[in-house]
Amino acid sequence: MIHTELVSLNLLLVLHVVCPSTYTGQQQWPVPYRRFDRRPAADSYCEAFYPFCPTGDRDGHIPYMRDTDVISVYRLQTPVWEFKYGDLLGKFHIMHDAIGFSSADTGANYTMEWYELFQLGNCTFPHLRPNVYTPFWCNQGAACFFEGIDDLHWSQNGTLEKIGEITGSQFNDMALWVQDDNETGIYYETWKVRSDPSPNATVWFESYDCSQFVHRTYRKLTELGAKLSSRSQTNYTKIYLYSGEPTFLGNDSAIFGQPALKNLAEEIRKFYHTFRPHQSFFDLAISLVEAYKKVVLDKSFYLYYNFEYWHLPMKSPYMQIIYEEVPLP
Ligand SMILES: *[C@@H]1O[C@H](CO)[C@@H](O)[C@H](O)[C@H]1NC(C)=O
Ligand SMILES: *[C@@H]1O[C@H](CO)[C@@H](O)[C@H](O)[C@H]1NC(C)=O
Ligand SMILES: *[C@@H]1O[C@H](CO)[C@@H](O)[C@H](O)[C@H]1NC(C)=O
Ligand SMILES: *[C@@H]1O[C@H](CO)[C@@H](O)[C@H](O)[C@H]1NC(C)=O
Ligand SMILES: *[C@@H]1O[C@H](CO)[C@@H](O)[C@H](O)[C@H]1NC(C)=O
Ligand SMILES: *[C@@H]1O[C@H](CO)[C@@H](O)[C@H](O)[C@H]1NC(C)=O
Ligand SMILES: *[C@@H]1O[C@H](CO)[C@@H](O)[C@H](O)[C@H]1NC(C)=O
Repeated sequence: MIHTELVSLNLLLVLHVVCPSTYTGQQQWPVPYRRFDRRPAADSYCEAFYPFCPTGDRDGHIPYMRDTDVISVYRLQTPVWEFKYGDLLGKFHIMHDAIGFSSADTGANYTMEWYELFQLGNCTFPHLRPNVYTPFWCNQGAACFFEGIDDLHWSQNGTLEKIGEITGSQFNDMALWVQDDNETGIYYETWKVRSDPSPNATVWFESYDCSQFVHRTYRKLTELGAKLSSRSQTNYTKIYLYSGEPTFLGNDSAIFGQPALKNLAEEIRKFYHTFRPHQSFFDLAISLVEAYKKVVLDKSFYLYYNFEYWHLPMKSPYMQIIYEEVPLP
């Protein structure tokens, strides 16, 4: 007990010294997701278990549509776990979201989705490598555009619904936006962090995942003049953390490169030791349960966001997976 208090006291002192003044003043919530000039190549340590975007164009090329073409837009959703683990995990309502397009001119259709390059576990928890002190993240996510819509895959246990029509010209404008979005928004964020479950809660951090990409694209299409509508409720999976006001800690070099912050560095390593990235969604589910137990016990979470660490003073109900409605724009 005394030891814990000493550690937190230490942490407080350290934070006071280290926090850049921009963070002690008026902090903007939710913390804006950082955009980059361009996407760097992924580190060769990161290895995809399933190759990313195997049937997409290597350079992310999106076909050009005739301006007067009529493109149908589809809402696509399927349970992530169902096809591998059956109903057991399907009932968690962990959904994967995508968007479909089909051209009236050519009859060709396409699927567009945004997902992890190295699977979800690697985006949620870092690797503690034997000779590397800094926790190592394989957390890139990206957009994948490929020809074809696998009707059965989406419709059988999920959703395949036409939600609108756009012109070829609107499609082409969207394609330019997707490429820019893909180049500047480069890493996956699993958690959405807010102050409590009420509708008025303060959101500290937004997630950045497949469904956020779908929402961004819908907003872009609406901005370009599209009208989208769905006959059913449009629900999406959210993985929530609940915490009091987060404290900024610093980036990798600030925390792991300074002897003065050794205690904090050790705390973060210890925290992530419990939840190493795993091979499968099933292992990840087990890890999430472990994470939940640890977080309830310690009331503490170290979040990595924008390649920087934050401390979250966790509070009840700590962590939730919710399948909730986000209306079309
Ligand atoms: C996660 O990253 C590790 C290290 O790169 C890699 O060996 C593993 O295959 C990745 N996990 C999956 C499921 O791809
Ligand atoms: C997005 O970036 C990834 C990673 O560089 C690339 O493989 C993919 O083709 C790009 N997708 C689009 C639609 O530009
Ligand atoms: C997409 O194209 C395939 C092949 O032509 C077809 O079987 C499927 O029904 C189409 N799906 C949609 C949603 O247009
Ligand atoms: C739909 O769910 C059933 C039962 O869980 C499963 O057997 C089937 O393979 C699933 N279909 C697809 C396309 O994932
Ligand atoms: C949320 O905020 C609105 C407007 O500020 C207020 O009317 C409402 O009572 C609040 N609801 C809760 C649950 O706090
Ligand atoms: C890490 O943060 C320090 C300030 O604490 C800053 O000087 C440095 O440029 C940052 N490094 C990166 C890679 O962003
Ligand atoms: C969809 O979301 C709404 C509101 O967020 C919720 O009441 C409803 O139960 C959800 N539907 C399912 C199938 O979970």
